[in-house]
Amino acid sequence: MPTIHRALVTGGAGFIGSHVADALIAAGFAVDVVDDLSRGRRDQVPAGAAFHQLDIRSPEAAALVRDGGYDVVCHLAAQIDVRVSVADPVADASRNILGTLNLLEGARAAARPPRVVFSSTGGAIYGDLAVPPSREEEAKDPESPYGIAKLSVEYYLAYYARQHGLETVALRYSNVYGPRQDPHGEAGVVAIFCGRLLDARALTVFGDGTQTRDYVYVGDVAAANVCAARAALPAAGRVDARAFNVGTGVGTSVLALAATLQQVAGTALPVEHLPPRTGEQARSFIANDKGARVLGWRPAYSLADGLATTYAWFRSQHRG
Ligand SMILES: NC(=O)c1ccc[n+]([C@@H]2O[C@H](COP(=O)([O-])OP(=O)(O)OC[C@H]3O[C@@H](n4cnc5c(N)ncnc54)[C@H](O)[C@@H]3O)[C@@H](O)[C@H]2O)c1
Repeated sequence: MPTIHRALVTGGAGFIGSHVADALIAAGFAVDVVDDLSRGRRDQVPAGAAFHQLDIRSPEAAALVRDGGYDVVCHLAAQIDVRVSVADPVADASRNILGTLNLLEGARAAARPPRVVFSSTGGAIYGDLAVPPSREEEAKDPESPYGIAKLSVEYYLAYYARQHGLETVALRYSNVYGPRQDPHGEAGVVAIFCGRLLDARALTVFGDGTQTRDYVYVGDVAAANVCAARAALPAAGRVDARAFNVGTGVGTSVLALAATLQQVAGTALPVEHLPPRTGEQARSFIANDKGARVLGWRPAYSLADGLATTYAWFRSQHRG
């Protein structure tokens, strides 16, 4: 009988976490999900997963990580809004730093500690000084409490790996898009554009639209989590030793994104320009060769394919 590996996905009722849970089940893992449903939806948890409605800051969540017999914990539960982190850094740190520490303490106390795969960011931690494509070892200078919290957790992960022998991985995602993204969120330009195309409204772009971002399809991000759950890891070391960018390595301008989406959607709506947003980064994309080399992960979706799949899903959900 083959061994069935056990995985816990925190934030598994959310956008990316629900895809990670799907991908782990498809890869043969037995999957449990923890989510407090503060943003996630119960109906997004895959039918094959056991669901625990818990706050990651609770003693119950730490006990689950300690006693659940997991081989891996994919940790995605988080406060994800950069603006919220600016308005209330304490609330952000409570979920994103203290919540994660609570799970790490649970992992450390387990008889057979699980590997912890953390969802970090490749957008917010490199900061404005970075010259893209950003590499993992690049100097970091996060601009927001959200980015600072993600980078702080990465230092804790490196510490737990060195001090307690915990197997930890940090995956630094670029701009993730795909089915189930919240069109009302701040980060989801693809989701917002899909909603506007379906309502036959003009697309709005801040500034001249030449600012670039690295758009990675959510199915590729889920596959990166499966690779990180299974790969042989490099030795524990400094903060970047087990950190991997998860992006395409390509910068796409907002105008090019809008054009490709309109192409796959078969629409020709106008693009309206709004004043530029203050402090917005001009260029941001991340190198992905370290993940290819060490984790065996490469993005499989082209932008056009990912956008076509995403648009089809939003259309299927649309009540016009
Ligand atoms: N969306 C992106 O482009 C992107 C980019 C970089 C990193 N990330 C990271 O990926 C992860 C998933 O993000 P997402 O876009 O799927 O967001 P999401 O809001 O859809 O998912 C987060 C989930 O965590 C849950 N949650 C929040 N606080 C919790 C708590 N205290 N206890 C238990 N559950 C809690 C929410 O209910 C939600 O279901 C996050 O860690 C985020 O920081 C996302």
